[in-house]
Amino acid sequence: MSPALPLCLRLLLLCSWAGVVLGYPFRTPVELDVTPRITVPVQGLHGSRRFLSSAVNHSVLLLEPESERLYVGARGAVFALNASDISSPFLQIEWEASPEQKQQCLTKGKDNKTECFNHIRLLQRFNSTHLYMCGTHAFRPLCAFIDEKSFEMSPAEDGRDKCPYGPTTGYTGLIIDQQIYTASQYEFRSFPDIRRNSPSPTLRTEDAPTRWLTEADFVGSALVRESINSPTGDDDKIYFFFTESAEENSAAYSGGSSRVARVARVCKGDRGGHLTLQKRWTSFLKARLVCSLPEFNFHFNMLRSVFILPDPTPKNTLFFGIFGLEWKNVKASAVCSFSLSEVEKAFLGPYMETQDSGSNWKEYSGKIPDPRPGTCITDSLRARGINMSTSLPDDVLYFVRRHPLMSVQVQPTDRRPLLFRRTTDYTQLAVHVTQAADEQEYHVLYLGTDDGWLHKAVQVQGQLHIIEELQLLEEPEPVSSVLISTEQMSVYVSFPSGVLQLPLSTCHRYTSCYDCVFSRDPHCAWDGDSCVDILHVDNRSALIQDIQHGSRGCENYHQVVMEKSRSVRVGDDVLLQCELTSNLASPTWTQDGRDLTGYGLSSGVRTGNDGLLIIDAKSDQSGRYTCYSVENDIRVPIISYNITVEVDTPTVKNIELTEDLSIYTLPSPEEPIATEQPLIPPPAPRLTTTLLDPQNMEALYLTLITILGGLCVVLTVVLLYVGFCLRVGNRGKYSLRAAAAAYPSNKRVNKNRKHRNSATMELKTISSHCNGYANGSAKHHNGDIQNGGFLQIVPGEGHTTFNRDSPPPAPPLPPTPNHTSPDCDFPNGLSATLPSMLRRINGNSYVLLRQTDSANTSPNGYSFTDELNKILEKRKHTQILPRPDESSV
Ligand SMILES: *[C@@H]1O[C@H](CO)[C@@H](O)[C@H](O)[C@H]1NC(C)=O
Ligand SMILES: *[C@@H]1O[C@H](CO)[C@@H](O)[C@H](O)[C@H]1NC(C)=O
Ligand SMILES: *[C@@H]1O[C@H](CO)[C@@H](O)[C@H](O)[C@H]1NC(C)=O
Ligand SMILES: *[C@@H]1O[C@H](CO)[C@@H](O)[C@H](O)[C@H]1NC(C)=O
Ligand SMILES: *[C@@H]1O[C@H](CO)[C@@H](O)[C@H](O)[C@H]1NC(C)=O
Repeated sequence: MSPALPLCLRLLLLCSWAGVVLGYPFRTPVELDVTPRITVPVQGLHGSRRFLSSAVNHSVLLLEPESERLYVGARGAVFALNASDISSPFLQIEWEASPEQKQQCLTKGKDNKTECFNHIRLLQRFNSTHLYMCGTHAFRPLCAFIDEKSFEMSPAEDGRDKCPYGPTTGYTGLIIDQQIYTASQYEFRSFPDIRRNSPSPTLRTEDAPTRWLTEADFVGSALVRESINSPTGDDDKIYFFFTESAEENSAAYSGGSSRVARVARVCKGDRGGHLTLQKRWTSFLKARLVCSLPEFNFHFNMLRSVFILPDPTPKNTLFFGIFGLEWKNVKASAVCSFSLSEVEKAFLGPYMETQDSGSNWKEYSGKIPDPRPGTCITDSLRARGINMSTSLPDDVLYFVRRHPLMSVQVQPTDRRPLLFRRTTDYTQLAVHVTQAADEQEYHVLYLGTDDGWLHKAVQVQGQLHIIEELQLLEEPEPVSSVLISTEQMSVYVSFPSGVLQLPLSTCHRYTSCYDCVFSRDPHCAWDGDSCVDILHVDNRSALIQDIQHGSRGCENYHQVVMEKSRSVRVGDDVLLQCELTSNLASPTWTQDGRDLTGYGLSSGVRTGNDGLLIIDAKSDQSGRYTCYSVENDIRVPIISYNITVEVDTPTVKNIELTEDLSIYTLPSPEEPIATEQPLIPPPAPRLTTTLLDPQNMEALYLTLITILGGLCVVLTVVLLYVGFCLRVGNRGKYSLRAAAAAYPSNKRVNKNRKHRNSATMELKTISSHCNGYANGSAKHHNGDIQNGGFLQIVPGEGHTTFNRDSPPPAPPLPPTPNHTSPDCDFPNGLSATLPSMLRRINGNSYVLLRQTDSANTSPNGYSFTDELNKILEKRKHTQILPRPDESSV
């Protein structure tokens, strides 16, 4: 590393900040970085069932639709669950490694907390009566049959050639016609291998002179029965999916990356060669899978998981893959789909070649022997007397041996990812094909994350719309498997601690026509009264659904608007809450039918994503305020407040803090703590804030504008310098991601807010700094920038986390005494959310008008009122000004 690099990085830091401020030069691929429409916390899951056992690492799932059983392989045990209700009684086989075996494992230097156990890695149907399973067995793999009827296991047999030794080693296995195909890096330090095991001819991949696999990390495999109705008498093929070290280490082929995603295939009828490639695959070919956003220089090279979507016509099989970036500390995922025909195109294209073993791969341009190397035995070969791979000519086999890699790279459908998310690490996925009310078929994807969430997304016109994100667990755990049962209309999700069963859809979660239609859930439609599961409706023609646009059909349905009346005092700061259930909606407000557009300092109101704030209420601000949710360009009224601003000072009583209170006034923490409850409220709740008084604010803004103007000039220079830096550094683009310091704790305490803590609490601020992106209204949904956040350098992400039209960061705020008082030192997201937001508005006092009962948990699980209650409790000197609550709904 050159000493200039730290300087470069520092400049990049600045540079990216400049990107935030200027919206230039980095642009986020916003249209791909999809926000889940609604966020459902763990308390909001409906109809879920849990299976918890004393075992851990429930990682392998096998669904048997006929017997309605869900088999679960865990650490030291296998379970047979009732697939229609996994929480009902179950059967169990205990299979743990013996103490002696564990001791041997320890002496091998293995970890007694993870490796020295029997982790079930393979669990599949063997024949009509038996299942087959393999376990790591404390670093000495064993396999055994399970009699399905009695659910008992047979005596175990050696599994060293079928099962990896460790619980986390990349591995995939298939049992096809009682033959076991597995791929893994079996023993420690052994080469990765794709194997077909006994009883019939055992086949492997080749190590020399050309190594077919290099540090391959396998994630999946699939049988595609291409022999069915094949006009050429083609064979069935088995596809393997993995990430491996890039041999073709030239920029043109691998984009300069060290790891690449691959698909390899072999023919099921392969018997190996006669002399050359004896006991080796004669049909092994591999090609690169591409999932990238080249215009942003994002190359997702790490394949984490695949789902194979079969089709009655084998040629139409689709492969869905979850890809990640090579940098382990960077959270980002992309989902790409590949058609089998694209994969086949690559296998029919030119081969790659290397002269000396290892490096310098280039496209082979010489003569290709006949029959084409790597193809299966077809009718035309049989006609030539080649009815088995053992009778293939030697020059063909010799060629196969040296040319396992194809030159053509497999491009994803539409040549781009279906989905890209920068703040999520997806681990597993499953795809369900469903017919919507428009009689079109849609792909619905269920994506599990590394922290216990499930995203449900629908593919529309080559892009994914995330219908909802569900929090599955209180404590984050990575999703280890996702499985769909159309028979049970369930999705099963496994974690280290257990298995969860969820309905494929929860339509009744949507309470209005607009909500139902905006969701774009193909399972759900509005029947005139409620949002129903279309499977339960015979006459679908009357249903309202709009998967394509998510906007049409509800024009004739009356939207219920909540009405509230409130009176406040002159000079109060009033927050009119309007919580939108959809993360894709933005609020707009009207006052007596007029649009409230002036968010300026002089207008006296500001809107945030969770409400409207009237600052320093004046008597002419009485009126009817209506909040609308704007989604897909449709305005839906949500709540109306009739606000009366009163001049007189009402009498004050001391009362207990109860849920019925609708107005709270908090004194400034700077005020002396009252030793007893005073009978008279503080004169006016606007003592402080000389700084925030309009004139001073103007001065502050002017200063800021000047400073930022200066910075702009500096940054222009910096950007030019950085451009130079990047070329010198030759590491691709860098960018910054602001990671909030408070984020991990927020996440722990209130995980369901994880997407919203940067969004909901962001109040709109105006600014006319150099970029001219004032009055931005987009949510910073994927930005993690918060108060007190630190900046973290993220290689490869050449973009800021802000939307193009996001407003620049809020101006610095006067320090508050909150952090000095232990009473106000909140342990969780509070200090990063509520107080900081209010601090921005007014350092002194605030009034909250409650929108709903606290019992009514909002869909995002975040109750502003609860948080406020906590603050009130903590501040013992709080005075409460009771007001008559005239709310009417
Ligand atoms: C097994 O579960 C534990 C927690 O229960 C987890 O820490 C560990 O990573 C899991 N191991 C595997 C291989 O999943
Ligand atoms: C599975 O559960 C369902 C519903 O609880 C029940 O009707 C069924 O009999 C159970 N099946 C078995 C095999 O226990
Ligand atoms: C693992 O080994 C360490 C010492 O080698 C021992 O202290 C610890 O109790 C062992 N843990 C388990 C779960 O056996
Ligand atoms: C299935 O395989 C097992 C184990 O080899 C064997 O005992 C059993 O008889 C087989 N069942 C059938 C129906 O072939
Ligand atoms: C394969 O072809 C050979 C002649 O080339 C013939 O003897 C043999 O029976 C054939 N085998 C099969 C399985 O068709």
